[in-house]
Amino acid sequence: MAETMKGLRRSHRCTEVSNKNIGETVTVMGWVQKSRNKGGIIFVDIRDRSGLLQIIFEEESVGTENFAKAEKLRSEFVIAVVGTVEARSGAVNENLITGDIEIRAKDIRILSEAETPPFPIEADSKTKEELRLKYRYLDLRRPDLQRNLILRSKVAIITRQFLADEGFIEIETPILTKSTPEGARDYLVPSRVHPGNFYALPQSPQIFKQLLMCSGYDRYFQIAKCFRDEDLRADRQPEFTQIDMELSFVDVDDVIDVNERLLHKMFKETIGIDIPLPIQRMTYAEAMERFGSDKPDIRFGMELKNVSDVVRSCGFGVFTGALENGGSVRGINAEGQADMPRKKIDSYVSFAKDFGAKGLAYLAINEDGTYKSSFAKFMTEDELDKLVELMEGKPGDLLFFAADEDEVVFDVLGNLRLELAKNLNLYSKDDYKFLWVTEFPLLEYSKEDGRYKAKHHPFTMPMEEDLHLIETDPGKVRAKAYDIVLNGTEIGGGSVRIHQGDIQEKMFKALGFTKEEAHERFGFLLDAFKYGVPPHAGLAYGLDRLVMLMAKEDSIRDVIAFPKVKDASCLMTDAPNLVDEKQLDELGIGIIAEDKDK
Ligand code: AMO
Ligand code: AMP
Repeated sequence: MAETMKGLRRSHRCTEVSNKNIGETVTVMGWVQKSRNKGGIIFVDIRDRSGLLQIIFEEESVGTENFAKAEKLRSEFVIAVVGTVEARSGAVNENLITGDIEIRAKDIRILSEAETPPFPIEADSKTKEELRLKYRYLDLRRPDLQRNLILRSKVAIITRQFLADEGFIEIETPILTKSTPEGARDYLVPSRVHPGNFYALPQSPQIFKQLLMCSGYDRYFQIAKCFRDEDLRADRQPEFTQIDMELSFVDVDDVIDVNERLLHKMFKETIGIDIPLPIQRMTYAEAMERFGSDKPDIRFGMELKNVSDVVRSCGFGVFTGALENGGSVRGINAEGQADMPRKKIDSYVSFAKDFGAKGLAYLAINEDGTYKSSFAKFMTEDELDKLVELMEGKPGDLLFFAADEDEVVFDVLGNLRLELAKNLNLYSKDDYKFLWVTEFPLLEYSKEDGRYKAKHHPFTMPMEEDLHLIETDPGKVRAKAYDIVLNGTEIGGGSVRIHQGDIQEKMFKALGFTKEEAHERFGFLLDAFKYGVPPHAGLAYGLDRLVMLMAKEDSIRDVIAFPKVKDASCLMTDAPNLVDEKQLDELGIGIIAEDKDK
């Protein structure tokens, strides 16, 4: 029978007891990690969220009845123990915070018994993630997840404190709302009162925070749940959390300044990392040119080089053909990899093809200075030498080249660079390299839709010096938009917003919205701007991604208490699921059964 808390109060968490307490009586509570009965003496490790503590039970000190209880203990029983702190009688356990002490039990209560869990509750679990997620409440008992969630809580608390000190006000915005402009698919919620009508869950608080600026709140923040129905990846969840902020009467540098100080404090006070300020900035154009990515990992080099000029009139049709079609030829140098086996090289060629490459040319520089290459036979000795020189190739190096339209070349080499660096161990998870990427293109052309789309969102301000191009050459217009990148992951992004009606109109026009369409979607924001709007700008972090990198995890699922899996379902609750006919009737919704034969 489970006993109760009656008359009992916890005095310490397990690892709060130390050798300073020797001789004192303490009361600890938690889960049985393991129990070893040595006949006449029982050793029990008790666990709570702080860690482990060893308890010893001997009949003479704990009494016959209690000793019998101790004999029954199994893993994951919940117990309370009153006992005296003593120095460890056996060898000190260097791996435990409490490794030099133990508690000699005087009293024990079994607060609840437990069935054998489906997997052991321990750090660095080898258990399959599916099983862990099905029993997430057990998984969450493991020390690594507890450490991650405690870290996440610290980040949120430091953020709140810092932003409050900087004059930001925390304001909640609605979850049941109207479609927001971030460009992913919406999650919809049917309205019972308005049959056939739907709320959209917010992809971000974007419009509301801009309205709050119109209302004079001047500096807003929120730790906000956001919802996006997009294809999931290791760093994407259908619902995730943003640290969202907006500021009035500011420009790019003001937003960057407050955020650099926030990041500095956050990293210093949680994981002891001193971020050197100011954080390096790089334009989007430079990031693409040098790293083939708008979120470059700058922990290592292996930069892209444009070799178009030296191969323009060579005899290799793959290169010259790409150039004639307006594309480029670029390469990267995998230093010291000339000996890479052919099979391995072929695997990189097929990796490149996954990113749309038609092929991947390579050239290895042997130790004696001769070349081994997939295309050497099409080029003269002199042409090859010039190419190698431009690539800064040395004996022992392996060069890879892609020839195509710029977009493909950047994507292929940018990803190949990351793949090579991962396999060759060119970076460490202990290294934190931040980068602001600025001057993003305002618009990007969607071949699928046959029109321009906002790269960030439709309220992003064009750079003043490019404004004149918005009607004639919209693809060339740069935006006052910035992303903060950490080790190759976009952890946040934002922009200065358009607060002038005429520029907003041009932007909608460039996006192909008629006045009516723009009004239908964002009318309330446009109306609000008619009544006096301050210049404003903001930024939002992906809190999950940020904590994932701080915790050195590979997946954001490891820093979210109850995450979803790839198909957006929850393995523990089985959501999403079918609902009652009655609920559907009330909503005026009918389900069209899938035709299995089709
Ligand atoms: P953006 O769409 O760039 O900007 O989102 C901001 C940050 O949110 C994180 N993020 C995600 N994290 C986990 N799962 C997802 N599915 C996901 N999608 C985005 C990223 C990203 O950098 N309203 C603007 C911000 C602004 O302009 O102020 C916005 O939402 O880390
Ligand atoms: P091919 O003439 O198709 O046999 O190609 C000769 C070499 O060029 C092979 O190593 C191909 O992988 C490579 N190659 C083919 N297309 C491209 C391309 N677009 N960019 C770079 N290399 C390519």
